[in-house]
Amino acid sequence: MENQKAVALLDSGVGGLTVVKEMFRQLPREKIVYFGDTARMPYGPRSHEVVRGFVYQIIDFLQTQEVKFIVVACNSATAAGLDYYKEKADLPLLGVIEPGVRAALQETRSGKIGVIGTSGTIESGAYQEVLRRMAPGVELFSQACPLFVLIVENDLVHSPEAERVAEEYLGWLRDEGVDTLIMGCTHYPLLEDVIRSTMGPGVRLISSARETVRETRAIMEEKGLLRGQEDHLYHRFYVSGRAAPFKEMAARLLHDNIRAYQVILGEG
Ligand code: DGL
Repeated sequence: MENQKAVALLDSGVGGLTVVKEMFRQLPREKIVYFGDTARMPYGPRSHEVVRGFVYQIIDFLQTQEVKFIVVACNSATAAGLDYYKEKADLPLLGVIEPGVRAALQETRSGKIGVIGTSGTIESGAYQEVLRRMAPGVELFSQACPLFVLIVENDLVHSPEAERVAEEYLGWLRDEGVDTLIMGCTHYPLLEDVIRSTMGPGVRLISSARETVRETRAIMEEKGLLRGQEDHLYHRFYVSGRAAPFKEMAARLLHDNIRAYQVILGEG
């Protein structure tokens, strides 16, 4: 039966694990198949065309894995062409940008929203476009934070460098008076502490992970795709790079030992 199949998530690396963590919390009965394109990350600085090529390959692979729904758990990949992926996939598919914007609109009081992300995401204008469509009167202040991904991937989250870089990127957003900040990159919730202390207690931080899973749940419910059983779940994690470092990071983040396998997808 279709609802017995797994939910697939894809990301350029470990960032999408923040969405997996939310899946475990909000949809604990669902089986997960994850693909992290660790050999080709970061996606942020690459052209949209190249990123789309990578994502097409991943979608093809995921569709051989008995999945019923695909979450593009990466802002850079979503910004590079969500509509293209929807056309390509034979399954319902959701990105992370619209859920994040929707949540921010529910939170903001001042109508001044900030969004931070990779260069690819910010330069694509995808957040601006979605916001213009949903709430034309709201002001959006955006900032690319390319070093944040490197800080996460190199395990420097609790370092003075992280604080210095955060002040450099975020100081002006705080001074502009944004009251809501969208963490428009799935890696950024891992930096939530330093982002919070830089922005101050009055600013609400929006994790697209939380909102995306909330929306995934709503769509699956509507389509009758939610899995009912409480049996043992075998999640599968695939990476294009080495499995061992990914496994280590995942164990720390998810507080769980996962099965991770390397898969070579070929040239994108
Ligand atoms: N996880 C990606 C995102 O959400 C960022 C990492 C990358 O640049 O590949 O944008």
